[in-house]
Amino acid sequence: MSALLAVKNLSVAYGGIRAVRELDLEVAQGEMVCLIGANGAGKTSTLKAISGLIASHGGSVHFDGKSITRLQAHEIARKGLALVPEGRGVFPRMSVAENLMMGAYVRTDRMAVSRDLDHVHALLPRLAERQGQMAGLLSGGEQQMLALGRAMMARPRLLLLDEPSMGLAPLMVKAVFDIIRHIAAEGVAVLLIEQNAHLALKTCVRGYVLEHGALTLAGPAGTLAADPAVRQAYLGEGA
Ligand SMILES: Nc1ncnc2c1ncn2[C@@H]1O[C@H](COP(=O)(O)OP(=O)(O)OP(=O)(O)O)[C@@H](O)[C@H]1O
Ligand SMILES: [Mg+2]
Repeated sequence: MSALLAVKNLSVAYGGIRAVRELDLEVAQGEMVCLIGANGAGKTSTLKAISGLIASHGGSVHFDGKSITRLQAHEIARKGLALVPEGRGVFPRMSVAENLMMGAYVRTDRMAVSRDLDHVHALLPRLAERQGQMAGLLSGGEQQMLALGRAMMARPRLLLLDEPSMGLAPLMVKAVFDIIRHIAAEGVAVLLIEQNAHLALKTCVRGYVLEHGALTLAGPAGTLAADPAVRQAYLGEGA
């Protein structure tokens, strides 16, 4: 069976600085996979290259068996990849409802869009209650939920999440991750980028460890969580 997302030999560079080196990564249909790594390891650069927001320096990205390596971000989005960016990227001066509809802007199937909006409101009732409110007035956790809801409005097959736990209080982190698990249970594949390795490995079935732009480990989440090097570097435990 071929992977839903297959990244091969991906390299990203900023000027002369190589941020990602020859990275291989796969996500199967409906699978939850995490990419963990410290500050500056190259996590965001990897996601941006996959989603077409920055050009890759080398390597290839295939989605559903077809190359998306040279496509533009909007063409990639249309194929069913939705990115929830670092810092959420909600439009602060637009309403919650307008933000959600931005997620569906490339879609023409109005009936299905309306059904998906009902579904997002059922999944995220706080957003339904705050439809008319300006997004910038929401709490950080609510903005993260709005960003998830907006991504769902594109009806993605793969959700790319860049540090959804960042800056949130523990209870909010739990609420956001409950939603992410719920979305995954509906069959949407997830590639989760996290500095919070503990949370990421608890949530996903499989993971990759990125250090200074290169993968150092890959495997089932349980195996990574038990790995002494991972425990020492990312789970805050002595060797
Ligand atoms: N636009 C840019 N121009 C130049 N260098 C950049 C740019 N964006 C990122 N970098 C560098 O590339 C490397 C990888 O950065 P990246 O943001 O991908 O890491 P990250 O793992 O997402 O980090 P964080 O956990 O802080 O979000 C870092 O050394 C960073 O300084
Ligand atoms: Mg980042």
